Amino acid sequence: MTEEEKVFSGGVAVITGAGAGIGMGLARRCGEIGMTVVVTDIDKGRADKVAAEIVAAGGKAEAIQLDVSKPEALDALAQDVFDRHGAVRLLINNAGIETIGNVWEIPAARWEATLNINIHGVVHGVRAFVPHMLRVGQEAWIANLASIGSFGQMPTQTAYIMSKHAIQSFSECLYLEMQVAKAPINVCSIIPGMLKTSIFDAEAGVGEPESAASHRATMAHMMANYGMDLDEGSRVFVEGLAARKFWISSQPEMTEQAVAGRIAFFQNQSNPELGEQQRALLGI
Ligand SMILES: NC(=O)c1ccc[n+]([C@@H]2O[C@H](COP(=O)([O-])OP(=O)(O)OC[C@H]3O[C@@H](n4cnc5c(N)ncnc54)[C@H](O)[C@@H]3O)[C@@H](O)[C@H]2O)c1
Repeated sequence: MTEEEKVFSGGVAVITGAGAGIGMGLARRCGEIGMTVVVTDIDKGRADKVAAEIVAAGGKAEAIQLDVSKPEALDALAQDVFDRHGAVRLLINNAGIETIGNVWEIPAARWEATLNINIHGVVHGVRAFVPHMLRVGQEAWIANLASIGSFGQMPTQTAYIMSKHAIQSFSECLYLEMQVAKAPINVCSIIPGMLKTSIFDAEAGVGEPESAASHRATMAHMMANYGMDLDEGSRVFVEGLAARKFWISSQPEMTEQAVAGRIAFFQNQSNPELGEQQRALLGI
């Protein structure tokens, strides 16, 4: 039996945005190690497909339609899952979208969607599930999806980058709140470097300014060529969760480099400056 199986087998995992990408990879891995996986996504068809795949592979899964930008939907999900299953061992607040464009060019609706999904979706996931976890009193895990972008700067990805800075600090403070409350809840920050997913697909950019399309295509190309395999990354993440780590990186060397850059920026109190990679991405 692997450490992941020892820790998680027989428990329930709830994953948001699990109909594609990293959420899907994590759902499959949780299914493989014997968890009952509640596969949630705004797109029910995608969630159904992932849950059916897990069941076909011999695992346990169910699909639920969920829009994380609706706090009351997260409350209802938590109530429903605890009523039916009694406990949740692992909550992964994964759903997130990329938004590309200059700050002043992104329409208000896309700004609101980005902040509501990427920030409020995580906040309200935690707010909805923690009271039930505390009531049950068993050891549980909450993992929030940060990013390498949590430690950097990137013009034209401002909406996304600021949301990921927010999630990293949210998880850090939440971790400490659990310590102060002596709660049996492990808080983990999942930090993907770059995994092959659909986040930069053209259809995911509906509502962005027209100028975003070429940057989106460049990022999609880079992801397809240099991104880590989804299942490989998901294995690394679940291994880190089972080890009760706070920092869980798919590509630790990328995290170290980004963090070192951030530390130097703070220490030097220098002005923000474009790096070579950023210039290349922006075509300047
Ligand atoms: N792919 C990477 O390399 C990478 C890097 C850093 C961070 N991340 C983070 O990982 C998470 C997943 O990203 P991904 O790359 O797998 O994206 P993806 O676009 O491939 O998948 C995201 C899933 O979330 C769902 N979704 C979108 N809006 C939703 C909503 N309102 N409610 C519920 N579900 C919703 C989509 O339908 C989709 O199935 C995000 O938080 C992202 O910021 C990804």
